[in-house]
Amino acid sequence: MRIGIPAETRSGETRVAATPETVKKLAAKHQIVVQSGAGMPASVTDEAYAAAGAQIVSAAEAFAAEVVLKVRAPNADERGLMKAGTVVIGMLNPFDSENIAAMAAAGLQAFALEAVPRITRAQSMDVLSSQANIAGYKAVMMAANTYQRFMPMLMTAAGTVKAARVLIMGVGVAGLQAIATAKRLGAVIEASDVRPPVKEQVESLGAKFIDVPFLTEEEKEIAKGVGGYARPMPADWMRRQAELVHERAKQADIIITTALIPGRAAPTLISEETVKAMKPGSVIVDLAVSQGGNCPLSELGKTVLKHGVYIVGEPDLATLVAADASALYARNVLDFLKLIIDKEDKLVIDREDEIIKATLVCAGGDVLRK
Ligand code: NAI
Repeated sequence: MRIGIPAETRSGETRVAATPETVKKLAAKHQIVVQSGAGMPASVTDEAYAAAGAQIVSAAEAFAAEVVLKVRAPNADERGLMKAGTVVIGMLNPFDSENIAAMAAAGLQAFALEAVPRITRAQSMDVLSSQANIAGYKAVMMAANTYQRFMPMLMTAAGTVKAARVLIMGVGVAGLQAIATAKRLGAVIEASDVRPPVKEQVESLGAKFIDVPFLTEEEKEIAKGVGGYARPMPADWMRRQAELVHERAKQADIIITTALIPGRAAPTLISEETVKAMKPGSVIVDLAVSQGGNCPLSELGKTVLKHGVYIVGEPDLATLVAADASALYARNVLDFLKLIIDKEDKLVIDREDEIIKATLVCAGGDVLRK
């Protein structure tokens, strides 16, 4: 089978869907064609791909393969380079119905890896986890870089410096990595989430959990989430959370927000009033900025100073760790490929498989995602 890896064209995208490590494994049985320069933003040279067994080709040749491995959804030009029936695998945004309709019209068989279900068998294909982990780490790096003080407590001949107080809002994969990273740098950490199992995870990393008690059975039920993801909490719980967060934010030096609800705008967790109450020189890193942000003052792609507080609104932080983000993403893709390639190295798409069902967004001209 011929598998193509084109260069990503979306602005700011530095990742690539295959690395020499994954190409080497695939090249043992398949013909791998990599667009010249595809790996350069992640510091992977054409020579490294060629040494792993790939053939270096043009964009048109990479898109002409039977299976095309992408990071982002193909744009109109790229769709035009693929023939009907081509299998496309990538972070295709399963909630972007316009793009899915366009891929269906082009006759593509497209798999959106963000929709991989959170079951044990699919863990190695979970791109949201592999990339959120990196984003959580980088968020702390960005915060430390913007913050005008030390992260750890230091005792020096010139006197003692206090440790930074870090507040993490939303403790999924990114939030847990942010806690672990800030801890390694010596910060004092508090964290909040809606989902009850998070408390134990936060405490096991040496951080303090900010408990917002559930007052009704409905609140308790909604907080459980669905499929590992949060659901929107009732207004009264959000109000009580905001009051507590307001108090904790006044003490914090750095706030990292990661709260997301799939397919919806991110919940507002840090209001303008709360920003006003924060200490001058504090830093907020809003990881939810592409989905509207957890803070209404954050601006996409910018670091802004509002009421004396630096607000970092850099989207897609994983793209700033291009080499490792590509390495982990490429392994996710490789594991996914094993699901659709049989022992005879032929393409077999089993529509009854739970992972296939969840990720196949269009095939044979039909949109399959409701
Ligand atoms: P996410 O990126 O969708 O959301 C980030 C966090 O924000 C979540 O923990 C969510 O509960 C929280 N959040 C949402 N609304 C909030 C609010 N109003 N206030 C405070 N926090 C709020 O979530 P992510 O990181 O993709 O995963 C969530 C969980 O899924 C993980 O912690 C893990 O337990 C589970 N998971 C399971 C996997 C598996 O079993 N294969 C794989 C990956 C994750």
